Amino acid sequence: MTLNSMAPLEPVIGVIGTGYLGTTHAACMAELGFEVVAQDQSRERVARLASGELPFYEPALAELVRRHTASGRLRFTADVADVAAAADVHFLCVGTPQAGEGMAADTSQVFAAARALAMCLERDALIVGKSTVPVGTTEALAAELAPLAAPGIEVEVAWNPEFLREGHAVDDTLRPDRLVLGVSSGEAEKALRQIYVDVIRDGAAVVVTDPATAELVKVAANAFLATKVTFANLMGELCEAAGADVTTLAESIGLDPRIGPQFLGAGLGFGGGCLPKDLRALIARADELGVGHARRLLGVVDEVNEGQRVRTVETAVELCGGSVAGVRIAALGAAFKPGTDDVRDSPSLAVAARLRDLGAIVTVHDPHANDNARAVEPDLCFAATPEDACRGASLVVLLTEWEELVRLDPRELRPYVAVPRMLDARNALDPQRWQLAGWEHRGFGRSSDRAQLSVGSRVRETELMQ
Ligand code: UGA
Repeated sequence: MTLNSMAPLEPVIGVIGTGYLGTTHAACMAELGFEVVAQDQSRERVARLASGELPFYEPALAELVRRHTASGRLRFTADVADVAAAADVHFLCVGTPQAGEGMAADTSQVFAAARALAMCLERDALIVGKSTVPVGTTEALAAELAPLAAPGIEVEVAWNPEFLREGHAVDDTLRPDRLVLGVSSGEAEKALRQIYVDVIRDGAAVVVTDPATAELVKVAANAFLATKVTFANLMGELCEAAGADVTTLAESIGLDPRIGPQFLGAGLGFGGGCLPKDLRALIARADELGVGHARRLLGVVDEVNEGQRVRTVETAVELCGGSVAGVRIAALGAAFKPGTDDVRDSPSLAVAARLRDLGAIVTVHDPHANDNARAVEPDLCFAATPEDACRGASLVVLLTEWEELVRLDPRELRPYVAVPRMLDARNALDPQRWQLAGWEHRGFGRSSDRAQLSVGSRVRETELMQ
């Protein structure tokens, strides 16, 4: 196969799957100047995207999709043959959710999409996986696709994992810190370097490696981030037992450049469609490969993270005097993190639902995720503003640290609640600010909460007298 047959000087880009990853990749490839055809099996999704409407909230992406559907560089189709006919390099961006049973990733969409594409190809093609997959997928896929393509047509499979974060998807794609190119030939490397020429020129580091390493880089990165959060949470537990402060601890160890300050935020823990699923998929793969230590470490990370949700619920129950039955609780935040309307494996929504299950009357407010949360937990009440969610509440729980929620003024919020009691499950608030405004504040592993015990009891006394 020659570079020109695989990727001519101005290759047309195909994108299979228009979820978070695929839509962002397609729009960003168009922004880089390529003609792009993006395919999804859902006709409804294709129609919405073609009219410039995103099926999820992602800052800056809708504008990019609209700009390039209008410029003609980006089009959407439900027909994979359309992509096969038009494109030279095909990016696989379909989902790899946790399999129904067990911890492994379900790669059936990757295989099905690649098979369908291979059978329609009319010329040599480079298929580049971007989805997060178990190590060994590229090799298995290449073996499966080779006999499916028409005689004389060569298909090469490479892996180029994606590291974008929800809420920063466009910027992370156009200005990534690194590009990992998992390739089996010099031609594939050249084709990918050609596609990313502007991104590389703008400073992205390039790592060229084999597909297996590229596949592992992605899951290892997510597993490491998950481990870092869990480490902070374990330190939080220690701080709580010892009367120390985990936010100061995290800030101090984070000043060491070998450690770094990010992902040391102790609190409710990680969630979303990626970190938990990728961690579990790596555990499953480590099991298959017989690598016991990795399995044990990552298993504890998952367990501690799930435990943070339980701790948060237990703390809420404790703050409410031992039971939340019949207690009005305001749950601020439902998305798994700020900047997204994604509620997949959201610790915030899980805590709200659990409190509801324990008999609390829970009203949720999320700046962008109310609709998605309602679709998953229709029995919860939802409010359009934080003030409405807090009306008559005896406990407010900050579950997702949206900037507008963190900035709430405790004095202005005070008249809405029955009892000024705040459980800051993300350690995102300034305890003193809330305490000075007459609130009982409880964070996670914070010494400032001890100092305010007397303030808390004063609040309870006032409440009893009212
Ligand atoms: C994550 C990775 O950061 C991306 O690099 C990767 O591409 C993506 O998964 C993916 O595999 O597609 P994302 O799921 O958007 O991105 O979310 P993160 O920003 O990584 O946050 C993950 C979770 O960790 C959130 O629930 C967040 O609240 C939690 N977190 C983060 C903490 O609990 N503490 C922290 O200090 C930082």
